[in-house]
Amino acid sequence: MAKEKIILTGDRPTGRLHIGHYVGSLRRRVELQNSGLYDKTFVFIADAQALTDNMENPEKVRQNVIEVALDYLACGLDPAKSTIFIQSQIPELCELTFYYMDLVTVSRLQRNPTVKTEIQMRNFETSIPVGFFTYPISQAADITAFRATTVPVGEDQEPMIEQAREIVRRFNFIYGDTLVEPEILLPDNAACLRLPGTDGKAKMSKSLGNCIYLSDTADEVQKKVKSMYTDPNHLRVQDPGKIEGNTVFTYLDAFCRPEHFERYLPDYPSLEELKAHYQRGGLGDMKVKGFLNNIMQETLEPIRNRRKEFEKDIPAIYEMLRKGCETARETAAATLDDVRRAMKINYFDDAELIAEQVKKFSAE
Ligand code: TRP
Repeated sequence: MAKEKIILTGDRPTGRLHIGHYVGSLRRRVELQNSGLYDKTFVFIADAQALTDNMENPEKVRQNVIEVALDYLACGLDPAKSTIFIQSQIPELCELTFYYMDLVTVSRLQRNPTVKTEIQMRNFETSIPVGFFTYPISQAADITAFRATTVPVGEDQEPMIEQAREIVRRFNFIYGDTLVEPEILLPDNAACLRLPGTDGKAKMSKSLGNCIYLSDTADEVQKKVKSMYTDPNHLRVQDPGKIEGNTVFTYLDAFCRPEHFERYLPDYPSLEELKAHYQRGGLGDMKVKGFLNNIMQETLEPIRNRRKEFEKDIPAIYEMLRKGCETARETAAATLDDVRRAMKINYFDDAELIAEQVKKFSAE
């Protein structure tokens, strides 16, 4: 049998999802889910990982589990096609993590660039929680428990996937071929790799207050687009403007399609022409922002409307998640059976072991 093609990815429930999540991974996942090219899709809410740096804030994590689930459904993830579940409800993941810890050194974890930056951002330098420090190992468990072949994530997750691949190789080398080595799937467009915040800062993040959320109202979206960071030296319309580092143009790179010009800006044949005009001078920020606003409204409106529909039956969302957890547990448990067998800790389902011991002790 050809190897199954399996997608797995997840998000920490520390807030509602924003358009950075959308272009970085969410939009792609929905396409993959609907492509028919994959045998299974798993998408999960990484609440246990969120607790590794929000241990004092369990209520925040709890509240955001449902927010993220609503954002998933609103974007088109479909429980009939994807298993949507909550990380903490799959105890098998803890067991796998515990075994993988034997395969990773402290210095290897210290070299993980994402963990390094996060430690700085959270001022953890002198008091890093062990659970936080080791979350790349638990992330390897998330991925391998479901035999994922393909992990669609943003650029910041690259070190995590690399670390998971190392764990798989080491496990298979020591214990025999058991685990599947995953591949990362990054966005193909540079603007989507790391969408900047509306203030032009490198990352869209709730703590910086520079996010456009998938669930923002039309007014909120418009206000945020109108106050976006552009080229601070582009003071008068006739001045030449810069495209590099100009957030409005980065967003256009991420969201604009040819048909948007036909609909909202028929004077221009393409984004290249719009950029060229801006660089020459004679094109005002407000006109470009108006265009971007039209595109954002068109993109976000159906998402917002679907979310409103799903919000009408919250118990059904929890029930969907509960079922997803059940399916996910079955899959993870099957992998764990293989892992225990490979690691020789399957004492009670191995008749040969008992026979072998009988022989050993009767020979003495
Ligand atoms: N670390 C990811 C994030 O911060 C969430 C995550 C946890 C994840 N486990 C995963 C993503 C496994 C992909 C695969 O968004």
